[in-house]
Amino acid sequence: MHTLLADPELIEPLARELGVPAGTSPWLTCDPLPEFAAFARQALPESQSVHAASINGWADAILSAIVGLLPDHQPWRLHLWPAYGEGRAGAHRCELVRNALAERLKKRRRALLRSLEDGTAPFTPATSLVQVALTAPDTGLLSVCAAPGPHARRALLSAFPAGEILPAVDKQAPSRAFAKVVEAELRLGERLQGGQSCVDLGASPGSWSYVALQRGARVTAVDRSPLRSDLMRNPRLRFHQGDAFKFRPETPVDWLLCDIIAAPQRSIDLLLDWLRAGLMRRFLVTVKFKGSDEYGLLDQLKGQAPGFCSDFRLTRLCANKNEVSAFGRVD
Ligand SMILES: C[S@@+](CC[C@H](N)C(=O)[O-])C[C@H]1O[C@@H](n2cnc3c(N)ncnc32)[C@H](O)[C@@H]1O
Repeated sequence: MHTLLADPELIEPLARELGVPAGTSPWLTCDPLPEFAAFARQALPESQSVHAASINGWADAILSAIVGLLPDHQPWRLHLWPAYGEGRAGAHRCELVRNALAERLKKRRRALLRSLEDGTAPFTPATSLVQVALTAPDTGLLSVCAAPGPHARRALLSAFPAGEILPAVDKQAPSRAFAKVVEAELRLGERLQGGQSCVDLGASPGSWSYVALQRGARVTAVDRSPLRSDLMRNPRLRFHQGDAFKFRPETPVDWLLCDIIAAPQRSIDLLLDWLRAGLMRRFLVTVKFKGSDEYGLLDQLKGQAPGFCSDFRLTRLCANKNEVSAFGRVD
């Protein structure tokens, strides 16, 4: 059985997406594991329930789950987090479990201790992922996903513990929407770069263009309204006033950024059109919703977009509101 974790307000949309009953628990089980789950924060493949009364009991349970499953000399990560309570007690307990596990590895499995890595960089085909979510001090879920599973399932498995990414903060940005670009870059493991060409559709007031310009990219910003005046003066920004749905670049661009406020079907069609026409190498497109009736439209992207991409993601970013972001790489 596999478990997917939803934000509390997204239990119902995730249950609908998976075709399973919704309750009050943010942990939803399903089988098989879907390729995409836009409303899931994190996936715990092959999860098992664990009961452990003590810190040592937890460390023993984790050790016996990983021995034999993880290759000795390949990198692996341990995501161990408290999924209960508000205070520091859960985090402290997880810290103690981590230390007790490290002690055991030091004595019995040095090679595994050496290959345990920190960080949230995207998974490589060699990375394994062990997740332990304590749903109470003495119960929880444990999932071991051996390499190349996390990389192969990167559209579903977050490299961030519990799938949580704190939205970036930058008071100079024209709006907080810039955090969506930063989060997509982190998830994809690729930033906009100096010298790249970028089209930003629905660009005003300009926080996505702001990020692209900061990275050194050349931006064609398309909107009915101008961007913030300092961005309009930037020599690497060209402003095209008009209907973003009608805009096509003369030659393919490195990045399509699109955050147009529009009916979800229009944004979905736009992305699929650009992909079919081969107009971009990378993309980030927001699909915005009113209410939840149209979430099912995302199935079109799940069915069609991966065929054009080497890496396709469809997820409600931590920085998203009632939106889902489609992003990825074409080549
Ligand atoms: C959410 S805002 C974009 C915010 C922007 N990404 C940022 O971070 O500053 C959506 C924008 O889409 C623009 N928009 C909506 N429909 C459009 C259309 N058909 N053509 C061009 N712009 C459009 C609106 O004018 C608005 O500026």
